[in-house]
Amino acid sequence: MSSLNFILLRRRTLAGVRAYSAALLTLGAALIHLSVAPEHLREYLPFGVFFLAVGCAQIVVAVELFARPTRRLAMALAAFSIGLVALWFVSRSIGLPVGPNAGTPEQTGLTDVICNLLEIVASALLVSLVVLPTRSALRRLWLVGLGSAPSALASAGMTFLAVSATLNGTPEAVNVAPAAQGRPSTSVAALVEAPGSEPVRHFTLTAAVTQIEGRQAWAFNGSVPGPELRVKQGDRVQVTLVNHLPESTTIHWHGVQLPNAEDGVAGVTQDAVAPDGEYTYEFVAREAGTFWYHSHQHTEEQLPRGLFGPLVVVPANETAGEQRDYTLTLYGSSAQVWVNGVPDTLHLEARPGEMVRLRVINAVDPGMDGGPEAVALVGAPFQVVALDGSDLNAPDLLGPTRIQLGMGQRADLVFTMPASGSVRLIDTELLGETSPVQDVLFAAQKPRLPSVTIGEGELPAVDASSAPLFDPLNYGKPASDAAVTSTPDLTVPIVLSKQPGIRDGRVELVHMINAQAAPGIQPITVSDGDIVRLHIVNNTGEYHPMHLHGHVLSLVGIDGRPVQGTPIREDSVLLGPNQIVDVAFAANNPGVWMFHCHVLLHAGMGMTTSVNYVGYATPFEMGTRSGNMPE
Ligand code: C2O
Ligand code: CU
Repeated sequence: MSSLNFILLRRRTLAGVRAYSAALLTLGAALIHLSVAPEHLREYLPFGVFFLAVGCAQIVVAVELFARPTRRLAMALAAFSIGLVALWFVSRSIGLPVGPNAGTPEQTGLTDVICNLLEIVASALLVSLVVLPTRSALRRLWLVGLGSAPSALASAGMTFLAVSATLNGTPEAVNVAPAAQGRPSTSVAALVEAPGSEPVRHFTLTAAVTQIEGRQAWAFNGSVPGPELRVKQGDRVQVTLVNHLPESTTIHWHGVQLPNAEDGVAGVTQDAVAPDGEYTYEFVAREAGTFWYHSHQHTEEQLPRGLFGPLVVVPANETAGEQRDYTLTLYGSSAQVWVNGVPDTLHLEARPGEMVRLRVINAVDPGMDGGPEAVALVGAPFQVVALDGSDLNAPDLLGPTRIQLGMGQRADLVFTMPASGSVRLIDTELLGETSPVQDVLFAAQKPRLPSVTIGEGELPAVDASSAPLFDPLNYGKPASDAAVTSTPDLTVPIVLSKQPGIRDGRVELVHMINAQAAPGIQPITVSDGDIVRLHIVNNTGEYHPMHLHGHVLSLVGIDGRPVQGTPIREDSVLLGPNQIVDVAFAANNPGVWMFHCHVLLHAGMGMTTSVNYVGYATPFEMGTRSGNMPE
């Protein structure tokens, strides 16, 4: 063995700079390994010990490289680092052969990417000591310092980022409404539908991975959207969820005012239903209207994969005289919107003179701007008879008008088929503010929007994209709405904002309510019987459809302008860019209810909290321990 290996690297050379830089980067990786060790200790003891050992070994070698930089040590460290990177690569691609999740690839996160980057650059520098030896001397010691400075800075910055990502990782356990010490509280699990003699309608929804037109989907009963559940007002609805997915799941009944325990939110009203598990929801459909259902576990991934469908409650005494009643579920992404399983034009039948109701559900998952769909009906005058399932009072006939629907919102449109010609529903899109980077990235992604033709005659040629927007403040006739006219018992200021930061172990555009992101947002606390006002200020250029579970929100005003016409009662209220919206609701359904932006990206980035009734607590928790992840 050549004794050269033991010769000290000359410190005041470029080689010295490289050795020092590698040592600094290795120190960063060491700190990252130590910071993740506790998490691994909890998960699987041998992994935790391994991370501790690796971190300590890296510190020893890095310090030694500073003190006595030899080629042999440099080579040993390079080999060690390359080994670690290889191990990481295996764990992220095919999975490790040992451990609690042997054989399944692990998820790549910010922390591990940074750590491996540090190790890769360090090994490259170390290898270069042998491959590209340099003799150029640096005359002054401060030049060596200067040469090592970039690595010192990079190492410090990256380590800080990685360690804060670890410290701000997905929490282990969060209870959004813990029982208060020393005070009695009712468990939300007890808030089930009371027995009764209503006619029972039973459905089974089996969630499974399915192939739909060559693409993989997660679907209820093999179809996207899931089957339409159509019941009569007053029916007792029982739905058995059978989970054949590889992940746990739930079903949330969006817009339905049901008892809290039936609300289907993982970690708040129930534990997510495990693979091969079953769970039965039961509620009485007391309000007629257009609703929908969707998964509320990993909603950001599960809903767009196809786990949603329409729920229609027809009035007990059907007097509307509509001959046709169609449900149109819009879904997809801002790149392509589908309607009822069709990507382009859906055709519906109707004969001249027939009265047609279209129940439009917006389940389109928008991009970061949260932009709503805006549907326009052309070819016949029409009425907006309901929004979010609540009827409007004395709805006026409208000409071509675009109706904005934020994610989760519904509109029921009624028209009479004209004597000749046909009617067309055209989907247009509104955009909120995007960043210049997004504009460049998505410029080519012109949205592909579907349309719906109704009837046989000639299609009206109208440019729907220029039609005026529906004005919810001036439509129909006023009527009494106690939530709006009563003096509020409390007024809650809600400020929506966003800011880059680290959340859930990722760098993201953190979306906040009152300057905090979930799960750190102070819940809204109400008492049974309160009239509550929410004064919502949108401090972003994005759209936010704010959705409250289990209640209806009455619109009071937008930007200080009050509602002049029909009461507008919605479960999701859409805030346009920088708008201020006031809503009121009667707190008459005790429990713990989610209140969140229905733009799945925004909710996932923190814009979600809850309305908690005093005296009620949840026994369920969210986080990595329970696996309940409602967003
Ligand atoms: Cu439709 Cu909490 O959601
Ligand atoms: Cu939002």
